Amino acid sequence: MDSSNKTSLVIVGATGLVGTELIRILDKTKYRITIVGRSREKLERTFPHGDGVEDYMTWDDFEKADAKNWHVILNLAGASVSGTPWTDAYKQTMIYSRLNATNMCVKKCGSSTQHKIRLINASAVSAYGFYTKPFHRFTEKDRDRRDTSSPPTFLQDLIDQWEEAAFKAEAFGSPVTVLRTGVVLDMKEAFFCHGYWKGFGSAKLFLDTCICY
Ligand SMILES: NC(=O)c1ccc[n+]([C@@H]2O[C@H](COP(=O)([O-])OP(=O)(O)OC[C@H]3O[C@@H](n4cnc5c(N)ncnc54)[C@H](OP(=O)(O)O)[C@@H]3O)[C@@H](O)[C@H]2O)c1
Repeated sequence: MDSSNKTSLVIVGATGLVGTELIRILDKTKYRITIVGRSREKLERTFPHGDGVEDYMTWDDFEKADAKNWHVILNLAGASVSGTPWTDAYKQTMIYSRLNATNMCVKKCGSSTQHKIRLINASAVSAYGFYTKPFHRFTEKDRDRRDTSSPPTFLQDLIDQWEEAAFKAEAFGSPVTVLRTGVVLDMKEAFFCHGYWKGFGSAKLFLDTCICY
């Protein structure tokens, strides 16, 4: 396929658990991949052999870039919710890093005058209520089953703000998809084979679905 016919996919926060595996499996004949991160050195270190990545951008580059040829922005960026104690200061880092990254992605969606950029934004299963019985199968309605007698948990509050920020791209006509991922235990065993992704057959097929429909 000619490079100009490929879907131009800009992955923000690409150096993490999800991004690195996704980039490994994505069909490079279909996607022209650009990755964005806080450090060019880290981007190059994470993908030393290129792995089909065509361009590397720092956040500065991203902010200044012309988005006219971009088709999809996949935003995975955010300070990790595991591994660091949730002090008040770190909670602010978790929130700010996600809202800031999402706001910048939304701004890029708004800057494209030629065509609509699709935004696929990370989110998490905490958007749904907590289950009260084993093997409860969640649907979109479960969001309405949150315990309204108590305030939202920290993660629910974070996710509400995060998704609200992402859906602002709709004001520019951009289709928005939020990925309410469960806990990623292991890329081969948990993330791509079970649960959330199973109905789509594979993460690659899922991403194709998000991009194409
Ligand atoms: N892994 C899970 O179990 C899980 C479950 C549900 C939801 N999610 C969500 O899905 C997304 C991707 O998951 P992941 O496990 O791949 O995430 P991750 O590895 O923790 O982080 C993804 C990327 O975010 C960037 N990042 C880290 N701290 C940042 C900060 N303070 N400001 C801006 N960017 C920062 C980093 O990229 P650079 O260093 O290159 O900038 C990092 O590679 C995340 O937003 C996560 O919250 C993950």
